[in-house]
Amino acid sequence: MTEAILLVGGKGTRLRPLTVNTPKPMVPAAGVPFLTHQLARARAAGVEHIVLATSYLAEVFEPYFGDGSSLGLHLEYVTEEEPLGTGGAIRNVAGRLRSGPDEPVLIFNGDILTGLDIGALVSTHRSSGADVSLHLTRVEDPRAFGLVPTDPSGRVTAFLEKPQTPEEIVTDQINAGAYVFRRSVIDTIPSGRPVSVERETFPDLLSSGAHLQGMVDSTYWLDLGTPQAFVRGSADLVMGRAPSPAVPGRCGDRLVLESATVAADAKLTGGTVVCEGAAVHPGARVDGSVVLAGAVVEEGAVISASLIGERARVGARTVLSGTVVGDGATVGADNELRDGARVWCDAVLPAGAVRFSSDQ
Ligand code: GDD
Ligand code: MG
Repeated sequence: MTEAILLVGGKGTRLRPLTVNTPKPMVPAAGVPFLTHQLARARAAGVEHIVLATSYLAEVFEPYFGDGSSLGLHLEYVTEEEPLGTGGAIRNVAGRLRSGPDEPVLIFNGDILTGLDIGALVSTHRSSGADVSLHLTRVEDPRAFGLVPTDPSGRVTAFLEKPQTPEEIVTDQINAGAYVFRRSVIDTIPSGRPVSVERETFPDLLSSGAHLQGMVDSTYWLDLGTPQAFVRGSADLVMGRAPSPAVPGRCGDRLVLESATVAADAKLTGGTVVCEGAAVHPGARVDGSVVLAGAVVEEGAVISASLIGERARVGARTVLSGTVVGDGATVGADNELRDGARVWCDAVLPAGAVRFSSDQ
């Protein structure tokens, strides 16, 4: 049975303040820590042994997932003292792998929501005889990703991480953050120092003549690295557009976890999730958003495409769109916040303090 490494040690900088207290993979999407969806999907594909490569806020993973038996998995945790980068993290957990030298090992970035057929990636790897196989997807603007041009047979010809110049944008195929490595290739990554698999390992393998195979797959794919992407991913999980066996409830327009309270005339739409102990008061409307545990949305607030942190409070008639409210923060009544606003954890915004429109 194929085993897997999950890379979950990044700082999640672009998701701040959500990642001030919580590492990115533990921020809840559709009511459970995002990582749960990835673990459940790997298990459904037949993976039983997963090593989590942790660094930033490493201590929170094991108390939550334990030995993995509740998910039918055997989980192990390896923490880097200093962040080792993606390649260094892979090398650092090699001692926990059980596969033989020629056997395939799956590796996943810890912030990808995708319908990838994991078994098909392993089959592609076996049938092509590649050293490393990569899931590729096509995106409109590839600049924030690793560009991976291939020849007509799917063999990778170059790897260009985060291209800086227009000349470097040679393809719309990007690294989708799921790989199969031949076990012995992992052992060739230098140990004990930071290594970027994207900037160092892949280019070095290519220049030494190794066979890297790409599998382009146009199924659902989203990197949840920004607040906009994170709330969209959660909503897509709730609505069943993104596949996961771990959504705690039936898929539909809304997901309200047990112990949350939602007023009868409050309106929840667009894949909104309301987590444990949270409250949505009368007349509030929440569309395509995430309301985390213990948060309160007061009367008549209108929220769309936003994330409300744990124990945060959104005051009456306040309008939020494309906004993140950090854990424990309070946005007083009659505010209006839009388009990428980030309210830091525990901040307090008085009533009527910020408007985008001239009326009060
Ligand atoms: N253990 C450990 N240690 N994990 C790390 C470290 C580290 O030092 N640095 C990053 N990671 C983990 C992150 O937690 C994340 O799950 C994964 O590695 C990728 O890091 P991101 O910070 O999310 O990278 P990115 O989104 O900018 O780019 C990566 O993903 C793109 C697809 O979404 C690259 O792999 C690109 O090539 C790719 O296109
Ligand atoms: Mg990412």
